[in-house]
Amino acid sequence: MATMWFWLMTCVLLQISVLCNAGVTSTFVRKEWSTDMPESSFPPPPGTNAPEQVHITQGDHEGRSMIISWVTPVEKYPNVVTYWKAGTKDLHKLQTHSEITTYRYYNYASGYIHHATIKDLKFDTKYFYEVASNEVTRQFSFTTPPKPGPDVPYTFGVIGDLGQTADSNRTLEHYMSNPIKGQAVLFAGDLSYADDHPNHDNTKWDTFGRFIEKSVAYQPWIWSAGNHEIDLASNLEENDPFKPYLHRYYVPYKASQSTSPLWYSIKRASTYIIVLSSYSAYGKYTPQYKWLEQELPKINRYETPWVIVILHAPWYNSNHYHYMEGESMRVQFEPWFVQYKVDIVFAGHVHSYERSERISNIKYNITNGLSLPVRDINAPVYITIGDGGNIEGIANNFIYPQPNYSAYREASFGHAILDIKNRTHAYYCWQRNQDNEPVVADSAWFFNRFFSYGG
Ligand SMILES: *[C@@H]1O[C@H](CO)[C@@H](O)[C@H](O)[C@H]1NC(C)=O
Ligand SMILES: *[C@@H]1O[C@H](CO)[C@@H](O)[C@H](O)[C@H]1NC(C)=O
Ligand SMILES: *[C@@H]1O[C@H](CO)[C@@H](O)[C@H](O)[C@H]1NC(C)=O
Ligand SMILES: *[C@@H]1O[C@H](CO)[C@@H](O)[C@H](O)[C@H]1NC(C)=O
Repeated sequence: MATMWFWLMTCVLLQISVLCNAGVTSTFVRKEWSTDMPESSFPPPPGTNAPEQVHITQGDHEGRSMIISWVTPVEKYPNVVTYWKAGTKDLHKLQTHSEITTYRYYNYASGYIHHATIKDLKFDTKYFYEVASNEVTRQFSFTTPPKPGPDVPYTFGVIGDLGQTADSNRTLEHYMSNPIKGQAVLFAGDLSYADDHPNHDNTKWDTFGRFIEKSVAYQPWIWSAGNHEIDLASNLEENDPFKPYLHRYYVPYKASQSTSPLWYSIKRASTYIIVLSSYSAYGKYTPQYKWLEQELPKINRYETPWVIVILHAPWYNSNHYHYMEGESMRVQFEPWFVQYKVDIVFAGHVHSYERSERISNIKYNITNGLSLPVRDINAPVYITIGDGGNIEGIANNFIYPQPNYSAYREASFGHAILDIKNRTHAYYCWQRNQDNEPVVADSAWFFNRFFSYGG
């Protein structure tokens, strides 16, 4: 998409409209790019060095720990989060210190980025927490998940390719006002879209952090990285992949014996969540391959019946945009997903919405010609949810006729809810930004194939 930005800049700066039109129309038929909400929409909180961009994510494998992250713009200290169980008032306040990191990106220098892991929390319990400067104290709260178990209900929001446009804001507001209340967000990659701006303008990472705080300071978002997190720019001498993302968004990867924050797993209530990286090596013998190979057999379905994978580039997509970009990863890992009956794979990347049938395409062996996706009860459902808002516009260029592996598809912005009821049943729905809550545009019941064979 850097190409698109280049053409737009060329249009603006040089006004060579013939050249621009040729460049744009020959490559893209997507609608106009949108624009980010102005930076003034996301002012820093008032007060000197006020903690900002507060966000939380699960901090261990089971859900008894939380990583609290925030940025202080001018001073390092105090680097402390204070927290206590709701209802205990001031009696039992605890404190944990943050690890502080900073980074430079071309002509940008970050504030002090704090990450504090608070541990030994009680399951299913509300906590308050505070982060402060010498002048300003900001208070937030979250609820820990129930202890993992087969019949523990839990509700996830699902958002991908969010960005910080007016559409992004509608998606987030819609998610937060959904009558089915999400308790944590599964995020399918592509956060700020800073890299779509000149020099990967990293102030966009700051405004994005302020934008999403209204949700992510209060409930964990489970992060995966997309192509807009790569941030490689050799022309800027920025050759360190994922640099801004890895400094800003810590995840508990060591708890699942992963060697990289780009792939890891957590348990949450009745689900086992596996995050993969579409933009890290996954060939045989690579660290990600070896990790996934030993990870899948570890899952105890009597404890966590539901297995969900989050990655960025979809394996089944019937849009011309990013068509088959997930293909080599599919070839590498799909047999395992079928063997271990992964329930759902959430991907982003394509700026529209699509849900697949339960299908697999694992028979092909170079010579036998068996190259069609076929119905497969053991296969996951693949959901592309890259419709958060982005900045590059909607991906409205589907392939016709609709292939039979595709169950539902639509070029609209929105979010999804995955409402796990018990070990056999989960309700899933997708909601479009143009509809009022609680209108549902696509929905399905998922039946767990380890405990039942409903479909
Ligand atoms: C985001 O949406 C909310 C709710 O509609 C609105 O109050 C707020 O002003 C919007 N934010 C921006 C920056 O447009
Ligand atoms: C490929 O598949 C065909 C048909 O299923 C089978 O007969 C053949 O032995 C396979 N080839 C290899 C190398 O496994
Ligand atoms: C799609 O159609 C092909 C050809 O008729 C068939 O072999 C395949 O099983 C179908 N796939 C699904 C998912 O229905
Ligand atoms: C599981 O949830 C479904 C849907 O709410 C319900 O119909 C079913 O009875 C539940 N199963 C058990 C064993 O409670």
